[in-house]
Amino acid sequence: MKLIDKGAEANLYLDKDTIIKERIKKAYRVTELDETLRKSRTKREARLISFARRAGVPTPVIRDIDGNIVKMDFIKGEQVKDVLNRVLKDERKRICEEIGKHAGRLHKNNIIHGDMTTSNMILKGDRIFFIDFGLGEINDTVEAKGVDILVFKKSLRSTHYRFEKECLDAFIKGYSLEYEGYKDVLERLGSIEKRGRYFAKR
Ligand SMILES: Nc1ncnc2c1ncn2[C@@H]1O[C@H](COP(=O)(O)OP(=O)(O)OP(=O)(O)O)[C@@H](O)[C@H]1O
Ligand SMILES: [Mg+2]
Repeated sequence: MKLIDKGAEANLYLDKDTIIKERIKKAYRVTELDETLRKSRTKREARLISFARRAGVPTPVIRDIDGNIVKMDFIKGEQVKDVLNRVLKDERKRICEEIGKHAGRLHKNNIIHGDMTTSNMILKGDRIFFIDFGLGEINDTVEAKGVDILVFKKSLRSTHYRFEKECLDAFIKGYSLEYEGYKDVLERLGSIEKRGRYFAKR
């Protein structure tokens, strides 16, 4: 078993073809609360990953949940963050449109990803897998969906600023193809940005 990533919340191990995500203890939290939080977030993430797949978005198959540990398929591919920086324009557009379609499918089913950045997406073959639903939730509001897209937009700005517009346009194309309610969400995205602040969960 090999440690592959030490995140803010979790340690990730790879054991053959299985990822083991263990939510780790936070020193600043009271022990009991900490344990409850870690368990409930683990369960919530596993549920959302399964919901997302049922909604037609590629996600790793969940193998097992036990307390603060979830085991899932290892998606052997490349982080979309790295892919976008090396591919040509047409492929970049295809990828961003595909991401938009996935976001549309999630939102159509009231699934909020919560951290829709290009480091939480993996390209495998020609498919894009969504991972890391730890900050996600089920929420049917236009506000929650608008904020979800704003997180994506900001991730483009900070990691791929040269392609921000091109990628966002392609994303919106995919999103509106998949999700009837797209107009309201995009309008809200605009007003959230004008408001100049939004209530992120971290
Ligand atoms: N099922 C998986 N298949 C392949 N790689 C994975 C898988 N799950 C996680 N990873 C890799 O581990 C990294 C961290 O996992 P994840 O995003 O779920 O945890 P995190 O708590 O958000 O950690 P971080 O703060 O580093 O993002 C991912 O960015 C990805 O590179
Ligand atoms: Mg992550």
